[in-house]
Amino acid sequence: MRYPAADDAARLFELASNPAVTRWFSWGPYTEVSQAEAWIAAQPAKRDAGEIMDFLVVDPDAGPVGVTGLTEVSKRDGRATVGSWIGEPYWGSGANAEAKALIAALAFRRLGAERLTAWANTRNGRSQRALERVGFRREGVLRAWHRHGDEMHDVVVFALVRSVWERSPLAQVPVTVEGTPPPSFVLG
Ligand SMILES: CC(C)(COP(=O)(O)OP(=O)(O)OC[C@H]1O[C@@H](n2cnc3c(N)ncnc32)[C@H](O)[C@@H]1OP(=O)(O)O)[C@@H](O)C(=O)NCCC(=O)NCCS
Repeated sequence: MRYPAADDAARLFELASNPAVTRWFSWGPYTEVSQAEAWIAAQPAKRDAGEIMDFLVVDPDAGPVGVTGLTEVSKRDGRATVGSWIGEPYWGSGANAEAKALIAALAFRRLGAERLTAWANTRNGRSQRALERVGFRREGVLRAWHRHGDEMHDVVVFALVRSVWERSPLAQVPVTVEGTPPPSFVLG
């Protein structure tokens, strides 16, 4: 997992120009590579502002396969929301579970989080199942939680709290974190 760089744009465009990937998002699918370039260019300012810290999920052979990151940080309560997408050729490959192990280790061990929240559209069965598979617990439904254009969408809210993560297989995955986190994302 690493921060995106300018020369990742073509690959991100390739993966996120697939409507199956962005179906449940407020953005996309990409129609021009400039949209991926703009997303990459915006990342440093968003990290500095404490808005979002997104990483590319990188396969040693295939290169970038998706994106995962932390947003909606509450320093006071020690929580953040995790969001992810994986390119369709890598669905079911284990990349998503590995990415969740990495982001959870970053959040709980390095940043001092107490809770990770995740949302899945009530109609996005695959995402709900994928979250439960890696140890997130379903908490309920938030109605009219996300706006996509003119439509409001209901989401299922999931959580992974520190004590559950510590006992989960995710915590057994060896993870090395390098670098200094942006101060707004330090929660502990
Ligand atoms: C959500 C996402 C990250 C999950 O990664 P993944 O590699 O597809 O997930 P996994 O294969 O590990 O797990 C998916 C699970 O859902 C199951 N599944 C597949 N389609 C399903 C459906 N329509 N309804 C319910 N479960 C479904 C799979 O069988 C699997 O469960 P199993 O391992 O018990 O068999 C990936 O599919 C993705 O990027 N989707 C598009 C973007 C997105 O929806 N992001 C999440 C936004 S909240």
